[in-house]
Amino acid sequence: MKIPSEQPTPKKPPRLLLNPVLARLPAYPLARMDERRRELEEKGAKLFDFGTGDPREPTDVRVRQALIAGVPETSRYPSAAGTRELREAFVGFMRRRHGVVLDPDTEVLPAAGSKEAIFHAPLAFVHPIHERRGVAYGTPGYPVYERGTLFAGGETLPVKLRKEDGFLLPTGALDPAKTRALWINYPHNPTGATATHTYLEEVAGFCREHDVLLFSDECYNDVYSGDPPPSILEVTRERTLAFVSLSKRSGMTGYRSAMIAGDPELITALKKLRPSIGVASPGFVQAAATAAWSDDAHVEERNRIFAEKRALFVDFFERAGLRWTSTNASLYLWAETPDEYGSDDEAYALRLLEEGILVAPGSSFGPGGEGYFRVALVPKLEECKEAIARWEGLAR
Ligand SMILES: Cc1ncc(COP(=O)(O)O)c(C=O)c1O
Repeated sequence: MKIPSEQPTPKKPPRLLLNPVLARLPAYPLARMDERRRELEEKGAKLFDFGTGDPREPTDVRVRQALIAGVPETSRYPSAAGTRELREAFVGFMRRRHGVVLDPDTEVLPAAGSKEAIFHAPLAFVHPIHERRGVAYGTPGYPVYERGTLFAGGETLPVKLRKEDGFLLPTGALDPAKTRALWINYPHNPTGATATHTYLEEVAGFCREHDVLLFSDECYNDVYSGDPPPSILEVTRERTLAFVSLSKRSGMTGYRSAMIAGDPELITALKKLRPSIGVASPGFVQAAATAAWSDDAHVEERNRIFAEKRALFVDFFERAGLRWTSTNASLYLWAETPDEYGSDDEAYALRLLEEGILVAPGSSFGPGGEGYFRVALVPKLEECKEAIARWEGLAR
């Protein structure tokens, strides 16, 4: 019998070589909060989750029925171009909501949620060794603009958004010599800032003058009360794309469904790219999406509820002396951490978590988010009231 020490030491496999972009991706920013949340959940504590933008209101019954009715007896591969019914339903929505008339054959394309569409867009439009391979986007912001750019071999050009500018991305901060594409996102995640027509015209003018592709992430365009936020396509479609999602508008985050619309030349490029990726939307999801884009009544009902939640929090922030960014749109309220926490937004978020209230620390949305926290108007109305009552105790 061999004694263990005589056994050859097993050879270590060579280090797994990763895509350098993946290897360098920072760890998930909310690890500490997640750990504490898990501990509290294990203890059975009641938590109010204002962290992620995934509202609890049910999906409209007609949308769910359309999904079920759309399941075929025999399954077939869907096409990247999507069904004509879906494209026409979306075109109808854009005409009703924005007064924009689009060609369903050449100017619109479905996506499996706007996240994948945003992530993949630079693969079509960024030349990785060209001097103008930069993609600009605002920070704090949605992290996918940065990630899609990096994986496509582009140069990331973050632009700080400032309270003094109403969190509107200042085109004066862009370097046209480097910038190939610009992402804007209004109504904005995380600040809730909205853009005026005049601002969109200014951005479109800048992009036209400097031959910059303009990508407008309009994920929250249909979540508002009062004045409806404009689409970039009301201003221009030249070298421009809008990314429009059903996730928040119609409570369809789990369906993964969005549309890309705009310049036919850019849509043609995406039609060439996207069949290689495997992001064609399943036929039954397209059937549900067709129902959702064809109806606005369910959106009005959802917006009435979001407006009620927004009003509850605004009222509370006022009573508690918390400073927040005024907004009538998006799912979010963006507020400054109380003075005693300085810019340590994570410390404040951890303190709130001890009360069972989960908010997103501003710094998790990138530079410029320090000293803020984001409340997603996600739990049901009654839960919002309960959470505010707890928070009120802390604020006193
Ligand atoms: C600003 C912004 N854009 C895009 C998305 C992606 O939405 P979806 O992929 O569900 O369409 C989100 C999701 O939260 C978002 O906040």
